[in-house]
Amino acid sequence: MAESRTIGIFGAGWVGLVTGGCFAELGHQVIVRDVVPERIDALETGRMPFHEPGLPEVLERNRARIRYTLDARELTEADALFICVQTPPTYSGDADLSYVWTALDDLPRVERRQVLVMKSTVPVGTGEKVRAALEGRGLINVGYVSNPEFLSEGRAVQDFLDPDRIVIGAFADEDASAVEALYGGIETPVVRTDVASAEMIKLAANAFLMTRISFINEIANVCEAVGADVVEVARGIGYDHRLGPHFLRAGIGYGGSCFPKDSLALKQLASNSGYHFQLLAAVIEVNELQKRRVIQKLQKHIGKLRGKKVALLGLAFKAGTDDLREAPSLVLASRLLAEGAEVRAWDPVARPGELMKGAVLYDTVLEAVRGADAAVIVTEWDELRGLASKDVHEAMARPLIIDGRNLLDPAQARAAGFAYEGIGRPTSPTEVLPETHERDLEAELNR
Ligand SMILES: NC(=O)c1ccc[n+]([C@@H]2O[C@H](COP(=O)([O-])OP(=O)(O)OC[C@H]3O[C@@H](n4cnc5c(N)ncnc54)[C@H](O)[C@@H]3O)[C@@H](O)[C@H]2O)c1
Repeated sequence: MAESRTIGIFGAGWVGLVTGGCFAELGHQVIVRDVVPERIDALETGRMPFHEPGLPEVLERNRARIRYTLDARELTEADALFICVQTPPTYSGDADLSYVWTALDDLPRVERRQVLVMKSTVPVGTGEKVRAALEGRGLINVGYVSNPEFLSEGRAVQDFLDPDRIVIGAFADEDASAVEALYGGIETPVVRTDVASAEMIKLAANAFLMTRISFINEIANVCEAVGADVVEVARGIGYDHRLGPHFLRAGIGYGGSCFPKDSLALKQLASNSGYHFQLLAAVIEVNELQKRRVIQKLQKHIGKLRGKKVALLGLAFKAGTDDLREAPSLVLASRLLAEGAEVRAWDPVARPGELMKGAVLYDTVLEAVRGADAAVIVTEWDELRGLASKDVHEAMARPLIIDGRNLLDPAQARAAGFAYEGIGRPTSPTEVLPETHERDLEAELNR
């Protein structure tokens, strides 16, 4: 177990709350500060601002050790101050550090040594700038450590408490040791390094994961052209110990709060330094195109999309979260609406509201697919594994499933009477829809 310390957290978002809750679980006292009053109110009354499995239980179990506040002065007691605020992209693709700088403006002045720990994902060089700013303000008693976070939404608590590694980049050894000690009780390799390398580790790790996704999506697209099945191909690749099975699931592209912005930030960081990061540029482009391929697949089966009813099943950028930041569902919905389609949507937890203006949200899968010309699996929710059912078949105007996550067994879906198209799997361009549906098609064509 770690020796109990007081930890201040800037930001009650995914990273901040998970960090706070898990440090409390390790025995520390935690003060979480946010600037949004509704968020602090909700947390004080035991309500969660977002969906993250296991997090409500951790916060509840450690309630006596966690305090929430709007007032940065309460962080005076903290031995370590973790910055967990958002770093969204600017129009240029650079990371917007304004939230980080605002948090730094609010740092309480204390006499004893405190360590400022950057958990937000920031460009390489940020640590140097922050250190200079701290010195400029006379805060020479504040040490600086880069301690990037690798948690993955949907399994964030588990990732924090049982990480693959902990990365600690510091200017001074005593600060690195102080931060490492906070993680006492967690058995994992600790990578102690310089600040710039720690910052780069986070960006490079994300870029590599995205590269794998875009790579397998490109392989999927070639599979479609040559009649191979990418699911089989990925299985065969994944057994290679040099490659491993992870992040080799072909689909409709990555989204989320991190990958899109972090890839842009790294590409921009490289180009600001005079280097054109060609591979990363291709990874980003492949991902953009991948989201749009669903539209072509729909057109292949049902022709013009104007007036067609399309059910988008799953809206969150991945299963296990209600996070809609950069979700492929948003791109798909707006493309479909632009084509004149009627968009019906379902998700077990994500509530897009204004983000998906023009789409109608339904409470159940069955309601969403009723009368639909096509159902598109956008998020790999377990609830969708049984989609190729009799009920769904009867409810749809045309039994067409576009499986954007290769969630279903194509043979079973076809045996259940659906026209089925996955990503990178053999499909027949002339797949014939059942007779009643053919008549619908004719009627559409004659309209
Ligand atoms: N979400 C993830 O899966 C994930 C994983 C690893 C790293 N990260 C990185 O961690 C950082 C935070 O991400 P997130 O998803 O938790 O963001 P988030 O948007 O969910 O949360 C950020 C929180 O910080 C608060 N905030 C803003 N300014 C503040 C200030 N001055 N003082 C206190 N609070 C303030 C916001 O109100 C918000 O509640 C980002 O840099 C992100 O790239 C995120």
